[in-house]
Amino acid sequence: MDASAAAAAEIAANGVLAKLEEEREAQKRYWEEHSRDLTVEAMMLDSRAADLDKEERPEILSLLPSYEGKSVLELGAGIGRFTGELAKTAGHVLAMDFIESVIKKNESINGHYKNASFMCADVTSPDLVIEDNSIDLIFSNWLLMYLSDAEVREHTYEPGYLSQSLI
Ligand SMILES: C[S@@+](CC[C@H](N)C(=O)[O-])C[C@H]1O[C@@H](n2cnc3c(N)ncnc32)[C@H](O)[C@@H]1O
Repeated sequence: MDASAAAAAEIAANGVLAKLEEEREAQKRYWEEHSRDLTVEAMMLDSRAADLDKEERPEILSLLPSYEGKSVLELGAGIGRFTGELAKTAGHVLAMDFIESVIKKNESINGHYKNASFMCADVTSPDLVIEDNSIDLIFSNWLLMYLSDAEVREHTYEPGYLSQSLI
């Protein structure tokens, strides 16, 4: 590649990065606005959330492969509709969400599970460090629609590894 082609490629790459960052900030603002209430209605963006949750939660849990005794990473955990359920059976659950008040609320609800831990982090962050071989299963519900296709491809780790992803 000659120097001008390399410069053009760098400019294009910087443009893509800037767009991704912009999108990240927009998504964070969106969730900051929509999580003020810290309720299941806010999490599901639906005033009928309590009824939907009654049907949806057991159905989703029934679709999961066995996670008994396993180490589960829950991405976009919200206030913890699933965190406590997972913790009842899993060996360990690491619940992650990028809104601090949300993950704190999750911890206040599910922190009594001694096998659960809570992390405020953006799942797309390149700075996110998860120790190699420390996770058996990644669970995520209602998160992928808030990521770009490229982010989903990049962050689904291994095919089939993301056990639940509702589009
Ligand atoms: C629709 S709610 C679903 C919450 C939970 N999984 C449930 O089913 O009740 C989506 C959650 O994902 C979180 N979220 C969205 N984008 C995220 C990102 N890039 N990193 C971490 N959390 C994210 C939001 O803050 C919100 O709590």
